[in-house]
Amino acid sequence: MRITVIGRGHVGGGLARRWKAAGHEVTAVGRDGGDATGADVVVIAIPGDSIAAGLAAISGLGGQVTIDASNKFGARPPGYDSVAEQVKAIVGGPTAKAFNTNFASIYDVVDAEPVPPGTLFAADADAREVTERLIRDAGFDPIHLGDLTKAPLLESLIELTSTLDRGELGPFFYRFNRPGELAAG
Ligand SMILES: NC(=O)c1ccc[n+]([C@@H]2O[C@H](COP(=O)([O-])OP(=O)(O)OC[C@H]3O[C@@H](n4cnc5c(N)ncnc54)[C@H](OP(=O)(O)O)[C@@H]3O)[C@@H](O)[C@H]2O)c1
Repeated sequence: MRITVIGRGHVGGGLARRWKAAGHEVTAVGRDGGDATGADVVVIAIPGDSIAAGLAAISGLGGQVTIDASNKFGARPPGYDSVAEQVKAIVGGPTAKAFNTNFASIYDVVDAEPVPPGTLFAADADAREVTERLIRDAGFDPIHLGDLTKAPLLESLIELTSTLDRGELGPFFYRFNRPGELAAG
């Protein structure tokens, strides 16, 4: 797939490396902006309170499948239930929220895990298949929460994940599994 990642920091740069290794054609751009024309998928990995300004610097946005990985501390964006909804209003395509509950600092050790760690995600129906594929291609196991109305729930988890990160656990992987699933696997 041709993927344009908006944000080339820990998350954007890290996912770009993993997707390139999986065979995708990836372009990651920083705050100077860039062109998303021709992208099959657009991934948002910039500060959640800089969405409007950040996306204004990108040309060629228009209806692509979009995956929003950003987090925002504090209030939701004015006029929207979630940052993902704000992203969707700008790009205009089927949208997913994913990767916002995974720590970029440990992407590099994902492959050493005995089972793929989880990535909670929410997605419009037309964004689900692509999002699941890119979660798997980044080394994670997709855990579907529902449609984009679940994005506020995912974004609210920043309080839980950052509390755990700052506490005794530090950056962590997570997984949900049915009883007996791992033993059978
Ligand atoms: N770090 C994590 O573990 C983690 C996990 C889940 C979600 N997130 C979320 O993912 C997003 C990116 O986090 P990160 O850790 O990758 O941050 P980061 O390493 O600081 O990288 C931020 C990226 O966003 C760009 N940027 C910064 N301010 C911008 C602005 N005002 N307009 C447009 N672009 C801007 C930067 O551009 P330049 O390259 O030009 O400086 C950079 O490429 C944030 O929303 C964060 O909350 C982070």
